[in-house]
Amino acid sequence: MNPTNHSVPACRPGGKTGSSPPVESLCYRVGNNLDLDAVLELYEASTLGERRPVHDRDRMAAMIRNANLVVTAWDGDLLVGIARSVTDFAYCTYLSDLAVRQSHQRHGIGRELIRRTRELGGEATVILLSAPAATGYYPRLGLTQHLSAWTLRPSCPLK
Ligand SMILES: CC(C)(COP(=O)(O)OP(=O)(O)OC[C@H]1O[C@@H](n2cnc3c(N)ncnc32)[C@H](O)[C@@H]1OP(=O)(O)O)[C@@H](O)C(=O)NCCC(=O)NCCS
Repeated sequence: MNPTNHSVPACRPGGKTGSSPPVESLCYRVGNNLDLDAVLELYEASTLGERRPVHDRDRMAAMIRNANLVVTAWDGDLLVGIARSVTDFAYCTYLSDLAVRQSHQRHGIGRELIRRTRELGGEATVILLSAPAATGYYPRLGLTQHLSAWTLRPSCPLK
């Protein structure tokens, strides 16, 4: 399956077995056909909004529209988690944004979003840049730190 068609399959149950009430009605979807306001609200409600351009709607809309692998978690009609990636479905999947609503954190949603993202990416390696508060999170899930990662920001000249 190539999720770039932006389809939104029916919900499938998910979440930790035996977890407490917030995740009882949890399901996951694939696709970027999302309401922008709901996405912006989730970014704020997870705190990821502090490090993303949530006040620039056009840029955020482009981020969602042009991402070709977006997995979301839903508690009923409430958007509670997102994994927003760019992938070639063969070699690399850049997981740019991983966010879980604060009220729903520590219920296995982040892990499940990563698991599904990796699964949908086929043989691709998942690559990401950790937020300061999440540096202890990724090793816990088995990710390996890469000591030679490099970035080139738009404001930084190419010499
Ligand atoms: C980081 C984040 C996505 C984790 O999502 P989550 O659904 O709460 O995490 P999970 O429930 O899947 O956690 C899996 C395990 O990691 C642990 N864990 C969760 N957050 C952690 C953290 N910040 N540091 C260390 N361990 C953490 C959980 O306790 C759990 O452990 P267990 O398996 O022993 O029970 C979520 O806290 C979040 O959205 N944070 C704000 C936005 C952010 O920083 N995103 C990351 C950008 S790189």
